[in-house]
Amino acid sequence: MPSVMPIFGTRPEAIKMAPIVMALQESPDFDCIVTVTGQHREMLDQVNELFGIVPDHDLNILQQRQSLSAIMTRTIDGLDKLFTENKPDAVIVQGDTTTSTAGAIAAFYHGIPVVHVEAGLRSGDLFSPFPEEANRKITSQIASLHLAPTSTSKANLLAEGISGEDIVVTGNTVIDALLTTVDKMIAFVDPRLEELAASGRRILLVTTHRRENQGDTMHGIGRALARIADAEPDLVIVLPAHKNPVVREAVLPALEGKGNVIVTEPLSYGEFTRMLSLAHIVLTDSGGVQEEAPSLGKPVLVMRENTERPEAVSAGTVKLIGTDENRIVAEVNALLHNSVSFDKMAQAVNPYGDGKAALRSVAAVAQLLGAGSRMAAFS
Ligand code: UD1
Ligand code: UDP
Repeated sequence: MPSVMPIFGTRPEAIKMAPIVMALQESPDFDCIVTVTGQHREMLDQVNELFGIVPDHDLNILQQRQSLSAIMTRTIDGLDKLFTENKPDAVIVQGDTTTSTAGAIAAFYHGIPVVHVEAGLRSGDLFSPFPEEANRKITSQIASLHLAPTSTSKANLLAEGISGEDIVVTGNTVIDALLTTVDKMIAFVDPRLEELAASGRRILLVTTHRRENQGDTMHGIGRALARIADAEPDLVIVLPAHKNPVVREAVLPALEGKGNVIVTEPLSYGEFTRMLSLAHIVLTDSGGVQEEAPSLGKPVLVMRENTERPEAVSAGTVKLIGTDENRIVAEVNALLHNSVSFDKMAQAVNPYGDGKAALRSVAAVAQLLGAGSRMAAFS
C-alpha cells in the first residue's frame, strides 16, 4: 500500500489539510503518516483537536519570535532525519508557509514526489505577501502534482510553464472544512462572546498578522480600530489576537479600555466560523478568511495592497483597501452607513469550492501513485 505523508505546521495549513487527512485515513488505498512541524503550537493543536487528527510525527520547531531561516532550517533538518528512517511514496504540502516550502525542499532532496495543495496562487509581487509569494513559487518549481483551487490558479501555473498534465483543479479544501464546521453552533469559550451573540449587536470581526504589515503599518491598524470604536459606540469590534507577540505589541495598546472592543485569544476554528457567520463586516489581512467569508455572504475589507485571491474581488464581496489608517476608518464607515454599498458586497458567492476538494485531491494522489484515477475537475 503506498504511504503518503501530509506535512503541515500552521493554523491555516492544518485547517486546509484536515479534509485531505481525513479522506486519506478513510481510504483503504493509502497508509497516511501525518507529520507536523509545530511551526505554530497552540494554533495548530487547536485545529488538530477539533478534527480529531493525531500526528504520527511532530518536529516541534516553534521558537518565540522565530526567524524565517530558523523555521526553514529546523524543518528541513527534522524532515531529513525522518525521511532517512521513513521514506514515504509521496508528501503533501499545503499553501505558502515556510513549513510548506521547507517540506517540499526536504522531500525533493530525498527524491520523494511532492503534491502541492492550493497551488498556483499569485499576487504578482514577490515581496507581498512576504515571504509567501516566493514560498509558493519555489514549491511550484519542484512539485510533481499541482492541486490548483481554481481555474485562475491553474492559468497562473500554465503561464509559468508547468505542464497541464500535472495540474488538477480541485476547489479549495477550506470550503470542505468550512461546510463541515460552520453549522455546528460551537459554544464560545469566552463568555463575552456568548453574551454578544445573544445581544444581536453589529460586529466588526478583525484579524491581522501579515509579516509585511508588522511595524508602523500594524500600529496604524490599531489606531484605526480605536477610532472606529470611538466613532461607533453601537458597534462591537471582535479581535481574536494572533499569538505572535509582535502583532499584539503593535495593535493592542491603542484598544485598551475600549468598552466596545473584545480582544480574545485565537478562537478555535468552530468558534471562529460561528463568529464569521454572526459578523456584519470582516476586516482582515488573512488569506483563508478572504475565502471563507464570501461564501457566508459577509463583506470583507482586506488590509493589503494586492491579493492572490482575485475571484471574490471580481464577484464584489471582497474589497482591497490597503493599510492606510485613514482609509481603513473611511472604508469601514462607508460600509456601515451606506446600505447600497453594503448590500452590493453582502452577496454569498462561492468561487473557491464546492466541498469536494479533498476527494478530488485524494483521487489525484491515487492517480499519481498508480492506485486510481482522477475525478472531474472543479469548475
Ligand atoms: C505564519 C506563516 C504565514 C501564515 C500564518 C498563519 C510563514 C513564514 N508564515 O505566519 O504564511 O499566514 O502563519 O497564521 O510561514 N506563535 C505562538 N504560538 C502559535 C503561533 C505563533 O507563540 O501557536 C508566535 C511565536 O512567537 C512565533 C510567532 O507567533 O514566533 C510567529 O509565528 P510564525 O509562524 O513565525 O509566523 P506567522 O506570522 O504566524
Ligand atoms: N481562524 C481561526 N481562529 C481565529 C482566526 C482565524 O480558526 O481566531 C481561521 C480562519 O477561519 C481561517 C484561518 O484561520 O481558516 C486563517 O488563518 P490565518 O489568518 O492565521 O492565516 P492565512 O490564511 O492568512 O495564511
